[in-house]
Amino acid sequence: MKILKIHIILSCLFIFSFLSCNQKKEQKVEHISSTQPEIMLDVLDLQTKNRLGKDTVVTITNDPVYRKEKKYKAVSASLLIKNEIDLSKIDPKNTKIVFECVDGYKPEMPLELFLKAKPYLAFQDSDAPKGTKWEIIVNDGNEMNADPFYIVYPSVSSKDARYKWPYNLVKIYLEPLNKSTLELYPLKNRKLESGYKLFKNHCLTCHAINGIGGTMGPELNYPKSVAEYWKEDELVKYIINPASFRNKVKMPTLGISKQQSREIVDYLKYMSENKKKI
Ligand code: HEC
Repeated sequence: MKILKIHIILSCLFIFSFLSCNQKKEQKVEHISSTQPEIMLDVLDLQTKNRLGKDTVVTITNDPVYRKEKKYKAVSASLLIKNEIDLSKIDPKNTKIVFECVDGYKPEMPLELFLKAKPYLAFQDSDAPKGTKWEIIVNDGNEMNADPFYIVYPSVSSKDARYKWPYNLVKIYLEPLNKSTLELYPLKNRKLESGYKLFKNHCLTCHAINGIGGTMGPELNYPKSVAEYWKEDELVKYIINPASFRNKVKMPTLGISKQQSREIVDYLKYMSENKKKI
């Protein structure tokens, strides 16, 4: 009798654990198949509502923007994201974080990489002269400051290009990792993949194609593509060195080689035949 009882309890346990495993599996499938809604954090709004979290002072030994050691008043960006967003509803492995800056500059990186890097959201420069919030940044003769927010990483090398250090940050978005890949990949001509990758890594933060990408520079494809109204050779040269065409350009010289610029232009020509109304 006793043995039978134990047997029943054991089989109940077995069935129970089987069911609970199955439930987990179902949930997981649901996460991947459901289209993830766009998640947005308005960091200025959170600051007015006193929801940024506990502040601290962080030291950046080699700040990539100011090019020296800096100290900032900051809050933990990963804690902020975890407090404001229910991360169990998304799959961090397939999600990217997109930063929106005041001027429309939109750099992005994988969410998982970001959360693991112990990022901080700096809201004030501890080295700023009295009465100001930020020390002036001087870049190519232009003077700027980092207001309202600047993302910094006390424990990441500023030379590691996988990490983005946006300043003038106003909003943070979480989006599926492959969002732009699906729309902008040259599916009909895979030979253009290297041009696409160059564009994605060097241009998409400032320029959109078919409405996808940054808005600091002009949209390059719709309604008229730059490949349609620029002479091809000139376009290749412009991408290498915009300042040789226009005075006081905002577009930086990016260190693109002639060969790379040709590949980007071939990709832009392809996209001009694949316009999409936004
Ligand atoms: C930091 C932002 C930024 C990046 C990165 C950038 N651009 Fe630009 N680009 C601009 C801005 C801003 C303009 C408008 C002119 C100006 O002020 O420089 C521009 C202008 C252009 C134009 C001229 C558009 C026209 O209609 O005349 C082309 C073409 C262009 N960019 C291509 C590229 C390509 C290709 C890349 C990547 C290799 C790139 N840009 C990277 C900001 C950027």
